[in-house]
Amino acid sequence: MTVVSTAASTLLATAPIEVRPASPDDITGMLELISVNVRAGHLLPRTIDEIRATLGDWVVALDAGYVVGIGSLLLMNPSLVEVRSLAVDERYRSAGIGAQIVRTLVEQAKRRQINTIFALTRAVPFFLRLGFTITNKDRFPEKVWRDCVKCPLVTCCDETAVVYDGD
Ligand SMILES: CC(C)(COP(=O)(O)OP(=O)(O)OC[C@H]1O[C@@H](n2cnc3c(N)ncnc32)[C@H](O)[C@@H]1OP(=O)(O)O)[C@@H](O)C(=O)NCCC(=O)NCCS
Repeated sequence: MTVVSTAASTLLATAPIEVRPASPDDITGMLELISVNVRAGHLLPRTIDEIRATLGDWVVALDAGYVVGIGSLLLMNPSLVEVRSLAVDERYRSAGIGAQIVRTLVEQAKRRQINTIFALTRAVPFFLRLGFTITNKDRFPEKVWRDCVKCPLVTCCDETAVVYDGD
């Protein structure tokens, strides 16, 4: 039995937390975690069709088959990818699961020979600990034109751009 210490409590996980590429069986749990985080204002909504169509770009964290964390990569151009839809079930936070998901996504990007990985985030210290650095959003015009221009916060965005430039 694995003890997972979280800010709120100590959970008893029945097995070690597994972080692996998502599979079709995970989609229901992924949608639930997205929905909770959309309501909390942390994530943008994703439809089941979007998830199915991009399943190979998603990573999940599982406690005994139950989805407790998610993250995905979105290709912006052949050498640039965004980390998006990153979330960990509130009861499992502060136990290193988010870090494990991001490290797995970085490895996936490197295997695809994509060296620049960025995120727009409010969780800046979390990304800095993982080797990301703060940068200027203007470096990612693809993101600005694809998503930011449609966002109501476009002129007063409270997210910071962070980037991991591969070795
Ligand atoms: C960000 C998130 C995925 C981190 O997952 P996690 O499993 O708790 O991550 P780790 O355990 O690896 O690291 C936790 C540490 O990251 C830092 N951190 C996490 N979220 C943070 C935030 N919003 N602001 C500042 N620091 C943050 C803290 O240092 C934290 O340590 P602490 O809890 O002891 O203070 C999780 O907090 C989450 O799901 N948040 C809501 C969704 C979200 O904001 N996603 C980011 C979109 S880019």
